[in-house]
Amino acid sequence: MNNRTIIPLSLCISGLCMPILAAISYKIQPIQKNQNSDLTSKAYIIMEKHCGKCHGEVKTAGFNFHNYKTMIDNGFLIPGKPGESRIFIRAAKSPGDPMPPRNENNPLSESETATLKAWIEAGALQPVANNPSSQHKFMSETDMLQVIEADLNHANERDRAYLRYFTLTHLANEGATEDDIQAFRVGLSKLLNSLSWQKRIAVPEPIDTGKTILRIDLRKFSWTEQTWQKLLAAYPYVIISKSEPAKSIYTATNCSLPYLRADWFVSRAAVPPLYHDLLDMPDTAGKLEAKLGVDVEKNVKEETAIRAGLQESGISRNNRVVDRHESTYRAYWRSYDFRSISGKQNIFKNPLSFEPAGGEIIFNLPNGLQAYMLVNDSGKRIDAGPIDIVSNKENINDPIVRNGLTCMSCHSQGVKRFYDVLRPIISALPKDQSGYDRDHALALYIEKPKMDGCTGRGCKTICCRCSGDRRGSNRSRTDLCTARAV
Ligand code: HEC
Ligand code: HEC
Repeated sequence: MNNRTIIPLSLCISGLCMPILAAISYKIQPIQKNQNSDLTSKAYIIMEKHCGKCHGEVKTAGFNFHNYKTMIDNGFLIPGKPGESRIFIRAAKSPGDPMPPRNENNPLSESETATLKAWIEAGALQPVANNPSSQHKFMSETDMLQVIEADLNHANERDRAYLRYFTLTHLANEGATEDDIQAFRVGLSKLLNSLSWQKRIAVPEPIDTGKTILRIDLRKFSWTEQTWQKLLAAYPYVIISKSEPAKSIYTATNCSLPYLRADWFVSRAAVPPLYHDLLDMPDTAGKLEAKLGVDVEKNVKEETAIRAGLQESGISRNNRVVDRHESTYRAYWRSYDFRSISGKQNIFKNPLSFEPAGGEIIFNLPNGLQAYMLVNDSGKRIDAGPIDIVSNKENINDPIVRNGLTCMSCHSQGVKRFYDVLRPIISALPKDQSGYDRDHALALYIEKPKMDGCTGRGCKTICCRCSGDRRGSNRSRTDLCTARAV
């Protein structure tokens, strides 16, 4: 895995390429506490009165005190350090070159100077009105439970036991911006649908005005109460409320806790063990193949599988073989990875009878999204790749390739393009000197242009089935489906 074109994580985090990663990478910005709001508003009143004329609606010399971020970015304001903040230096300490300019005849009084200084020393907090968190109204736990209760009361009685909720209310309360919250809605939707064996994409439904509580129907993801209980078993924030709305929610859903924090879910459900549990992932490649209607051996024998041999160069890099099989839900891709290049691990000598040390699998779920599996030399499912075979060098803090999330970080755009080096070698060999069935090998290791039609951007192997749209389509469309309406 070492010499792959690696998509920098930052690219993914922009949210365009990877909603799940974007959501996980999210960190709450330091939030404004109200204890200093008095000082803050006084400082802003002073700036409005003495600086506003030139650095307010109009921006002089790149300084506009309404734009907190650029004040910081341009070094006009250094929280905690009035002596180094240009606004304080110019307003208080520049007798020869004061701000406002002398001819304005509007200098700061001593007490105003002291207030400005105190505000910067205390961390120069932003006024709450300038903080995007104010986009969301504070919602208490009780408010949240009442909204869920009302939603359940509206639902068909027979559906209630299947309804569950993901909440982002706590993030909105803590001051997360609407953009951050939206990243979670999209990440949640993408991940839920990546853990579903249903044909259709189902989008979580917001039920409150701030869209911070999202409802799902377990059946739309092939989940059961047992699936939900697996989540609860791992959930660290289990607080069973004794309030009236809570009791009525537990009764209606017949569930001890039918709501979870969406941010926790997004960070934990994309890695094992939950990734496997929620997806009901078989524990061997063989069982997965049976579930997907794939018979690898038969496909190879009948030459319906396509294959490529990749040469990786460098110290810890070994060769690999990848092949593609048609499955009930489109594609089943498998890689065969090696520890060395000796004996049966040498694909150049054994393009048909190699013995891999492990493998990676990408397959389409019935809804078109991708799912992943890692296996060892005997085809048994593993949670993470042995570091001597595969490593995610892009992430120095955590180079371990874990199933699910790590795969998504590179494969979010689908199946990667690669370059086969085996076919030219096989075809150059005299027929009787190869030591294997050369024509059979050539039928499997197909020409590059044909393979390119199945990988990278040329890949038409994924189709979208949301909202009854059965026209074949590509991955980004499926992505759009998961994001729709949230
Ligand atoms: C009447 C217009 C006017 C007012 C009012 C005014 N400034 Fe300025 N300010 C200017 C002009 C013109 C410049 C650019 C020339 C200069 O730097 O002297 C400037 C530049 C600045 C700069 C950027 C240059 C540097 O030194 O880093 C800062 C910071 C600044 N002003 C702070 C303030 C503060 C703080 C106030 C209010 C206490 C204020 N100004 C009020 C006109 C004004
Ligand atoms: C660091 C980036 C990266 C990570 C992480 C990664 N892959 Fe890949 N993967 C690639 C690249 C690049 C290719 C193209 C072939 C090659 O260079 O080996 C590839 C190829 C594959 C293929 C062959 C089909 C294709 O896309 O070309 C499969 C199957 C596969 N990977 C599965 C996985 C699984 C499963 C995981 C997670 C356990 C994973 N990959 C993690 C980069 C990555």
